[in-house]
Amino acid sequence: MKKTAVVTAGTGGIGLETALGLAAAGFAVTVVGRDAGRGAEAVARIQATNPARPGRFLSADLASLDQVRALAETIAADHAASGDPLTVLVNNVGAMFARRQDLGGVEASFVVNHLSPYLLTELLLPALTAGAPSRIVNVTSGAVAVAKPVFDAVEPPGGYYGFHWYGRAKLANLAYTLDLAARLDGTGVSVFAADPGGAATAMTDGTLTDPKIVSPALRLLWPLVRRRFERSTSGPASVAARPSIVAATDAALARRSGVVIGPAAHVVDPFRAATDARLADAVRRLSEAHAPLAVAAGA
Ligand SMILES: NC(=O)c1ccc[n+]([C@@H]2O[C@H](COP(=O)([O-])OP(=O)(O)OC[C@H]3O[C@@H](n4cnc5c(N)ncnc54)[C@H](OP(=O)(O)O)[C@@H]3O)[C@@H](O)[C@H]2O)c1
Repeated sequence: MKKTAVVTAGTGGIGLETALGLAAAGFAVTVVGRDAGRGAEAVARIQATNPARPGRFLSADLASLDQVRALAETIAADHAASGDPLTVLVNNVGAMFARRQDLGGVEASFVVNHLSPYLLTELLLPALTAGAPSRIVNVTSGAVAVAKPVFDAVEPPGGYYGFHWYGRAKLANLAYTLDLAARLDGTGVSVFAADPGGAATAMTDGTLTDPKIVSPALRLLWPLVRRRFERSTSGPASVAARPSIVAATDAALARRSGVVIGPAAHVVDPFRAATDARLADAVRRLSEAHAPLAVAAGA
């Protein structure tokens, strides 16, 4: 039986490099993205990396929870039909928005960085459990450090600052990752967070140049902040993919779960706020309320 992996947002940036690394490690890799042209190019590169394990592209806009549900159904049905285990799920999708946007009535960065990977993971748990030993890798960010660690509501009060809202959604996802690892203890499904550090990608090129993404206090220091952003996101995506590849494949992690793989591709301590059980409870309540696993017909 072949090992299989799904990488979301796997047709470009860090996700594509992760997909190539997993293909090189012998996985049959499915990449998910919106653009069919980029999907075809990614599949060709996967094929060139490991001709014995052709890649596959599935189209989904992961900003749409309905499309996440449909994607999960397709993946689960394919694994049930083929009998191949779902060995690795890399939730790599992420996005930062310079201006506030709503998606189905919920602030967009919370949807893309947390609710979408949360929902895909929950819906694929039966397939991942059937495929055990299997691994879930959730891609996190150092931006968790600028987040307001309060989750009474999707959004904290006050003005919108894209970098901080992105960090807060990533913090929700990190708390979920650690909570899920505890929940899945004994099932053979391990759960990791991977922090890529930084890389020059479509995401960073498109957003980190606008001072409005940071709070007014940080805006006063914008030249310094911008230089810091430029420095930390100047590296190649291939290096930033290493933490995800290590989390998904390293045999030394076989008996571990609920750990964070840092930018240097080894285990680091999790950001403290993400280990708070009350915070994880609040995130769970928000996730269940805003990303139900099934939607009633006609809703
Ligand atoms: N880059 C950094 O410095 C950095 C630092 C810390 C953490 N991260 C995290 O690392 C992960 C990857 O980041 P990245 O910089 O490589 O991002 P990126 O440049 O935006 O990634 C591009 C990939 O994302 C796909 N994508 C974007 N939005 C999508 C959507 N709504 N639905 C489906 N696919 C979508 C694109 O495919 P299509 O356009 O075809 O849809 C493409 O495959 C994210 O979780 C990010 O938060 C990045």
